[in-house]
Amino acid sequence: MPNNPILAPSILSADFTHLADELLACESAGADWFHIDVMDGHFVPNITMGPFIVEHCKRVTKLPLDVHLMIEKPEQHLEAFAKAGADHLTVHVETCPHLHRTLEYIKSLGCKAGVTLNPGTPIGALESVLHLADLVLVMSVNPGFSGGQFVPESFTRLADVRKRLDTLGSSAWLEVDGGVNTENLPELMKAGATAFVAATAVFKNPQGPAEAVRSLRSVMANER
Ligand code: DX5
Ligand code: ZN
Repeated sequence: MPNNPILAPSILSADFTHLADELLACESAGADWFHIDVMDGHFVPNITMGPFIVEHCKRVTKLPLDVHLMIEKPEQHLEAFAKAGADHLTVHVETCPHLHRTLEYIKSLGCKAGVTLNPGTPIGALESVLHLADLVLVMSVNPGFSGGQFVPESFTRLADVRKRLDTLGSSAWLEVDGGVNTENLPELMKAGATAFVAATAVFKNPQGPAEAVRSLRSVMANER
């Protein structure tokens, strides 16, 4: 298992008129990765960012870019995201009829291969590709927007994936995405998550993103 818990602010809730400032504030306060939510208006109802945004983030930050693809036919766009500077490419099991091939393809592009699933999709859908994954993401909201309702079954789902990864001896990150905040972080860590995505809790914090990152980090440090 990776040693340190990872904090990955999701830029979905950032102020895009000041994106560079927001990224740098998070980076200097101790963020580990930036999470970039790509949505196509088909797989999920919202439309957000493409490779262009990834490329611009890459110019500003040295932190790894954790790209979450909530799009149909993700395999058609993986190369463009890799070229734009994505470090991790995470696809949904619901969008990938050739999931095994897709994860191998992501690795061949030089990126970490991530796999994820919606709250309503049985965890067993991951089983046959878990050994290939560098990152497993458990969605704890129904994807499409930041500020969504945290799904409480996510705790047991995380624990289930944790057990499967440990049985395999996998060192993949176990990431959680949706409704993560300082209150539920301790229980999410206990369930076995090692990487934490947060949009609202970072960028909508009235104290500003840097202070938000510091608060989340201090909860993480106390729980270790
Ligand atoms: C949801 C996205 C999340 C989202 C999280 O579809 O995948 O990454 O930005 O937002 P919060 O932290 O506000 O739930
Ligand atoms: Zn996401």
